[in-house]
Amino acid sequence: MSTGMVAAAYIIAGVLFILSLGGLSHQETSRRGNLFGMVGMAIAIIATVASEQVSGLGIIIAMMLVGGTIGAIVASRVEMTQMPQLVAIMHSFVGLAAVLVGFSSYLDPTSHLQGAEKTIHEVEIYLGVLIGAVTFTGSVIAFGKLQGVIMSKPLLLPARHWLNLAGGLVCIWLGALFVGADSAAAGMIPLIIMTLIAFAFGVHMVMAIGGADMPVVISMLNSYSGWAAAAAGFMLSNDLLIVTGALVGSSGAILSYIMCRAMNRKFINVIMGGFGTTTGGGVDAEAGEVVATSADEVAEMLRNADEVIIVPGYGMAVAHAQHPVSDMTEKLRAKGINVRFAIHPVAGRMPGHMNVLLAEAKVPYDIVMEMDEINEDFPNTDVVLVIGANDIVNPSAQEDPNSPIAGMPVLEVWKAKTAVVSKRSMATGYAGVDNPLFYRDNTRMLFGDAKDSVDHIVKQLVD
Ligand code: TAP
Repeated sequence: MSTGMVAAAYIIAGVLFILSLGGLSHQETSRRGNLFGMVGMAIAIIATVASEQVSGLGIIIAMMLVGGTIGAIVASRVEMTQMPQLVAIMHSFVGLAAVLVGFSSYLDPTSHLQGAEKTIHEVEIYLGVLIGAVTFTGSVIAFGKLQGVIMSKPLLLPARHWLNLAGGLVCIWLGALFVGADSAAAGMIPLIIMTLIAFAFGVHMVMAIGGADMPVVISMLNSYSGWAAAAAGFMLSNDLLIVTGALVGSSGAILSYIMCRAMNRKFINVIMGGFGTTTGGGVDAEAGEVVATSADEVAEMLRNADEVIIVPGYGMAVAHAQHPVSDMTEKLRAKGINVRFAIHPVAGRMPGHMNVLLAEAKVPYDIVMEMDEINEDFPNTDVVLVIGANDIVNPSAQEDPNSPIAGMPVLEVWKAKTAVVSKRSMATGYAGVDNPLFYRDNTRMLFGDAKDSVDHIVKQLVD
């Protein structure tokens, strides 16, 4: 394929990626967004592999078959609840790829750049390897934490900020040595030492972040992986990789910002780590009687209600309760009851987690509301059904300044006439914080697996 055709294909792919991102911002258009992304990626891969610059087509195709097969098998087996881990491990591959591209680019015997061009190329290599190495180990640790193989509590080394600062300064000094080196052999030493420091920094950075801040970390690593890809694009002089990397980098950064706002946390505090270290937010002062209810009683309450809001959370995903929840919604709506869903921006374990599950269960989009759209309606609601959610409906976020989640916007379900909470026990949620909601006078606890409970309610509603 000629250079002109490759450039044209890259422009088409770039446009498709932008359309894809635009499509993914709304439920109604997300399928189309995915399709644009897939077609764009297919065009990008074909144009790159078929371009004149590429040799060794056989080995590229063989590697793509191996990688593609592993990816397809892993992705088809992964549960919805394990999606964040999958995303984290994918980011680690992008980071590692940037490191490897950097090293191979530096050692490329065919490169004969001189003067300013050589310096710029070396800076690209240095930054690409640095960002890639942080992304690689940071993502591996994030995977371990989400998978439960590494404890989710933050690891706080003494003087950790000083350690990070010292590492950063050493990396700047090594960068000067690297760019000033008079031979590739001399440049390799600072490059390798910096890579090891960046690996350690990635581990340290994510180990220090715990509990409820993990979603931000994932989207931040998403952003890093984009910048690592963009840096690889500069090293390889590949325009599409630069554009795609910048799109991923900036969209990940915007998403991180939106999430921080949803949790009322400053981005810099998240990165500095340490969330979840304070204990407290206990319910002792308020702890009283917990009133348990039954599925039969809840069915009766729902039948007699005019306004119902369902608040889904991580437990609905674990229990695979979205289909019975959809059935229940249909039955209640058929009785003329106004049923709506309230979606917290960080409900579940990844952005849009609940929206995806509800869409899969064919819940109509127009009754699925974002937190800001529906939070004021709770006082006029007869029954709120909280299904496997906990942190996102915790009143201590507003009422207890010492709570680890103080200041996080939450769904004000306690303002409804009755709040029914479906969960298996009195256990805490992801942030490990007790929830005073369970002890409120107008709260009823529906203990048991969410799917079993909702199945039971659905049976009671048949008549
Ligand atoms: P959580 O606070 O984690 O609470 C989920 C609740 O579901 C648990 O208390 C659990 O109680 C219950 N549960 C688990 N399995 C269940 C089952 N089979 N049936 C019924 N209930 C079940 O979830 P949330 O309210 O959705 O809040 C999300 C939390 O995750 C926030 O802290 C958020 O910051 C964090 N987080 C979010 C993301 C994103 S991007 N969404 C990513 C990572 C972390 P029992 O054990 O008693 O059943």
